[in-house]
Amino acid sequence: MSPPSTELVLVLVFTAGWCFMCAADVGDFSPCLQVFYRSWPPKGLAGTPICQRFYNRYRFATLYSRPRRSPWFSAYLYSTPAGKRPSASWKFEPQLAYPGARGDMIPFPPGPVDQNVVDSQAVELDYINSTYSRGHLNPSLHHRSREDRTATFTLANVVPQKAGSNAGPWRALEQRVNRTLAAYCLGEAHVVTGAIPYRGDGRWLGNRRVAVPEYLWSAYCCPDYSRSLPEELRGAFPTYAAIGRNNRDSGEEIVPVSPAVKEQFRGFDVRAMPLGTLEGHLGDRLGGRVRVFYEQCSGSD
Ligand SMILES: *[C@@H]1O[C@H](CO)[C@@H](O)[C@H](O)[C@H]1NC(C)=O
Ligand SMILES: *[C@@H]1O[C@H](CO)[C@@H](O)[C@H](O)[C@H]1NC(C)=O
Repeated sequence: MSPPSTELVLVLVFTAGWCFMCAADVGDFSPCLQVFYRSWPPKGLAGTPICQRFYNRYRFATLYSRPRRSPWFSAYLYSTPAGKRPSASWKFEPQLAYPGARGDMIPFPPGPVDQNVVDSQAVELDYINSTYSRGHLNPSLHHRSREDRTATFTLANVVPQKAGSNAGPWRALEQRVNRTLAAYCLGEAHVVTGAIPYRGDGRWLGNRRVAVPEYLWSAYCCPDYSRSLPEELRGAFPTYAAIGRNNRDSGEEIVPVSPAVKEQFRGFDVRAMPLGTLEGHLGDRLGGRVRVFYEQCSGSD
């Protein structure tokens, strides 16, 4: 065999250099570490970190899965909402398509979308006419400022979610967390909300570009909370966790189905559980040890 040609070596060197740069440009949570409790991103999940920027400010953080074209989780600081849900103008992340691009998210153009953008992430056409709604991980409801709310409308913060979950038990969970944190969290509340994949190859939106999660999960950490909690919230501080079904037909080992739920929402139950139990389910599905908050949000100094 003849030695590799100079051209081939050069191609390899440049390809390697290019990919190394890709990783460096989006693969870093350092500009937005403050959204994580103790600046400590969850451990045991692998993906592409994105500091979600809008109007030149970092708003929240997302661990993105390029092969799934959807997020593993989004992490944010909760602030008590005021005002209405903004009208959605959906956005994409230019830096997933072009490593050198400015990081501010950009609204989709009315016409055709650049092919590098289409290749690198979910676009509106993936969701249009699918049987799934666009499920925010970081919900607009958990933010005070209009810009923070608007910034949640990026498809990199969205997973395919059944309407029966999105408009039913999952929304009820978001509202319950809103009321609980607004009333009893005295300091910062760090929230992480993510997706749990199906086992095996799983399910995808119609054209097999975007992976569908079997469950959604969410957890918050609020170490500084009111000492006069009502009885039913004693277990909800400093940390709280839950898993919600995204498929009526899933088994009941992780989240049982209550027959009492209204027909349109039946089978999309959400189950509250200790943080350690959530971490156990995540580790089991993802094949490793997952830790969501530094020292389980124990608040110990
Ligand atoms: C969605 O479905 C409707 C009704 O079948 C059809 O008219 C429309 O062209 C479809 N849109 C896309 C983007 O495929
Ligand atoms: C969120 O909580 C605030 C403070 O309690 C409340 O005013 C608001 O109505 C809540 N929003 C929803 C949608 O539950």
